[in-house]
Amino acid sequence: MSIDTLDERRTADAARRAAAAQARVCAEADAAALDGLISVRPRQAGPRPQPVWDDAEVLVHEPVGERYRRLVLASSTIAHTAQAGQFVMLTVPPSGGDRILLPRPMAIHRRRAAIAGTPERPGTPGTIELIYGIVGRGTRALAAVAVGATLQVTGPLGRGFEFAAGAASALLIGRGVGICGVMGAAEDAAALGIRTTMVLSGQRPEQLLGRADCAELGVRVLEATDRDGSSALTTLAARLRDHFDASTPERTPPDVVMVCGAGVLARLAAELGAFWGVPVQASLEAHMACGLGYCHGCAAPVRTDASVEGPLVCADGPVFDARIPIV
Ligand SMILES: Cc1cc2nc3c(=O)[nH]c(=O)nc-3n(C[C@H](O)[C@H](O)[C@H](O)COP(=O)(O)OP(=O)(O)OC[C@H]3O[C@@H](n4cnc5c(N)ncnc54)[C@H](O)[C@@H]3O)c2cc1C
Ligand code: FES
Repeated sequence: MSIDTLDERRTADAARRAAAAQARVCAEADAAALDGLISVRPRQAGPRPQPVWDDAEVLVHEPVGERYRRLVLASSTIAHTAQAGQFVMLTVPPSGGDRILLPRPMAIHRRRAAIAGTPERPGTPGTIELIYGIVGRGTRALAAVAVGATLQVTGPLGRGFEFAAGAASALLIGRGVGICGVMGAAEDAAALGIRTTMVLSGQRPEQLLGRADCAELGVRVLEATDRDGSSALTTLAARLRDHFDASTPERTPPDVVMVCGAGVLARLAAELGAFWGVPVQASLEAHMACGLGYCHGCAAPVRTDASVEGPLVCADGPVFDARIPIV
């Protein structure tokens, strides 16, 4: 092996180790931030949609910026029934001899209803849009799936975000691919005429997802990035308190806060919710094997008796109530 190749490999190994160490630090901070914060939401008003197992054609599969990929799947049933904040389990087909046993959970970023055909114009199927980052074996194999292929998709799954009757304004907060977790709430808010502001948070401005979706849905955007320090928790909290300072009708504090993308952001949202006296709903992630409540592999980080299992993120969540514990 040449010295150059050896150096490149050492540099790549060091970058991988640094990324893994950073991910561990973030995971520990998230777990600490969620401690005592989360509870299962009261029973939802209407029935939860029945999940289906669909063979969905891949209509679009393309890069989004340098970090993510966008997948549009034809699935009229899921597009029609999915509620904001619900997710699907995607079965990833084998790639390069590598079989991917477990399906992967992905948030439903956008839902678009089927359009009936006319004698002049053919109809279009309902679609769901997912956006994902390549992080491991499953998502690497998923990236190789071609337009026109069929993917097995189960959904819609879990309990999503819900607006209380009479809600007039909402603050949505998403970070990274967590933006996809709350975009469905922006769709519902637009349909219900709820005035919405969304924080789009991420590492760098060019990596922020959701700008075009927010423009389409009439959502006011506040960008927050690590690059300029505006995503730092204290900076963001101060900016949001200032933004919603009740000085004009537009600046009235929101009636609800909905958040997805990091435990530390869920805590920030809960602190803001306590300050404004409004409820907070937080969507969580967990490693999932079935997504259906069978394997019990996705317990939420809720403080309980050590012998009692926490609620399941796939079935009781992924959206939970987030409240600062009273001590
Ligand atoms: C409700 C929900 C919604 C999600 N929505 C999105 C989304 O919209 N876009 C996106 O990019 N990612 C999303 N994720 C995370 C995504 O599921 C993981 O990045 C993906 O499963 C990683 O698979 P992998 O094989 O590439 O990685 P690997 O690390 O090789 O995965 C190994 C195993 O761990 C599980 N796993 C790994 N990381 C996660 C994780 N963060 N959450 C849950 N399971 C994980 C995988 O499902 C798999 O079973 C979501 C997770 C959950 C729980
Ligand atoms: S992933 Fe199997 S029970 Fe939640």
